[in-house]
Amino acid sequence: MEWQERIKEKKGKEKIVMLTCYDFQMAKLLDEVGIDLILVGDSLGMVFQGLPDTKSVKMRDMIYHTKAVVRGAKNTPVIGDMPINSYTTPEIALKNAKKFQKAGAKGVKIEGNHPQVIKTLIKNKIPVMGHLGLLPQTAKKYKVRGKEKKEAEKILKDAKELEKLGVFSVVLECVPEALAKKITESINIPTIGIGAGRYCDGQVLVINDLLGMDEKFKPKFVKKYLNLAKSIKRAVKKFKKEVKTGIFPSPEHTFH
Ligand code: KIV
Repeated sequence: MEWQERIKEKKGKEKIVMLTCYDFQMAKLLDEVGIDLILVGDSLGMVFQGLPDTKSVKMRDMIYHTKAVVRGAKNTPVIGDMPINSYTTPEIALKNAKKFQKAGAKGVKIEGNHPQVIKTLIKNKIPVMGHLGLLPQTAKKYKVRGKEKKEAEKILKDAKELEKLGVFSVVLECVPEALAKKITESINIPTIGIGAGRYCDGQVLVINDLLGMDEKFKPKFVKKYLNLAKSIKRAVKKFKKEVKTGIFPSPEHTFH
């Protein structure tokens, strides 16, 4: 069975676990734990490059990080996030999606409902993951989407259309739990939520958020499983002190 069929099979049976990842060592760790999917998200613009949003992430950035992640993720399907302006026409999308494939990604994720683009990729045997709700590449404001009836109906309609187009799953970002539940119950492909509540078929988080790399970043939908920022600072402070005082390197860390 193809990997994306295995993902689809999990709907209603087993929750899907996806995390973002941007580098080799982290990919290796995620692969060793054994999660269902790794997403090389364009969130790397924020967490890796220090940009304010994902709006200026380039294909070359995505490909660079995808290659590094693929080297570490020996057993986990890696999905490449198509960055802004990389799917403005079906032809451009196909050219860029093929670059992701060449870099080792098994599929691509696209924000929003772009029927011609999605049709073209799927026709060319490139598995596509959808993404609805808050769409950071085009959003003017980062806020919950689908609180109002009209917007909720549009997201539900888009989800049904994406399913018809043949996407293998759809990310729901920052939508009310009731809407995510309705969508999850209305389509036969898995929904993977981020800030979309408990009833999605799976969950995704940005790995840096889960690990607590940014002490000031505390959105409601993130659970920090670690305070890595604190641990890193503690270790670096200790190193600094030991270098300044001549404790490091000791004879055991020295060639004789
Ligand atoms: O870029 C990203 O990390 C994403 C996830 C939040 C789904 O799109």
